[in-house]
Amino acid sequence: MAEHFLITGGAGFIGGHLCQELVHSGHTVVAIDDLSTGRLENIAHLDKHPNFQFVRETILNAQVLDRLTSQADTIIHLAAAVGVKLIVEDPVHTIHTNILGSEMVLPHWKHKVTLKRVDEGTVKIEWFLQIGRKPQ
Ligand SMILES: NC(=O)c1ccc[n+]([C@@H]2O[C@H](COP(=O)([O-])OP(=O)(O)OC[C@H]3O[C@@H](n4cnc5c(N)ncnc54)[C@H](O)[C@@H]3O)[C@@H](O)[C@H]2O)c1
Repeated sequence: MAEHFLITGGAGFIGGHLCQELVHSGHTVVAIDDLSTGRLENIAHLDKHPNFQFVRETILNAQVLDRLTSQADTIIHLAAAVGVKLIVEDPVHTIHTNILGSEMVLPHWKHKVTLKRVDEGTVKIEWFLQIGRKPQ
């Protein structure tokens, strides 16, 4: 059954592949990404697809996050400060993004958390958290 996915960090390395896999499987996908390390090229091929939408914004924007999570069946949280150089050079930004960012996302979805594994062609996408909708 087609679902509405919200992918945080959707313009990242893993997020871009995941958006493609989900859209091509018939799902609707919204990707939110501030493009701090992500790239538009990772999702450029989905730009005109009717089942895909890109929102350039930080997950720390509570208003936008509330709106997007309320519309989603499933959220996959990949937005993070990633990379040794970035983390070493700006540890406060890393903590802010990875800890506060996750704290902002998780309360919307705290009741159903499962681990899933996806293989997309030759690109192996590692385990990720799939967080189901919080019961109303
Ligand atoms: N690539 C791997 O081999 C690997 C392995 C294990 C775990 N992971 C985890 O998977 C996730 C994604 O990794 P990746 O390799 O795709 O990294 P990536 O840097 O390509 O993707 C992270 C994305 O998050 C975005 N982002 C950062 N801060 C944000 C914010 N405040 N708001 C919105 N977007 C924000 C970045 O712009 C980027 O597009 C990370 O949590 C990473 O730790 C990756």
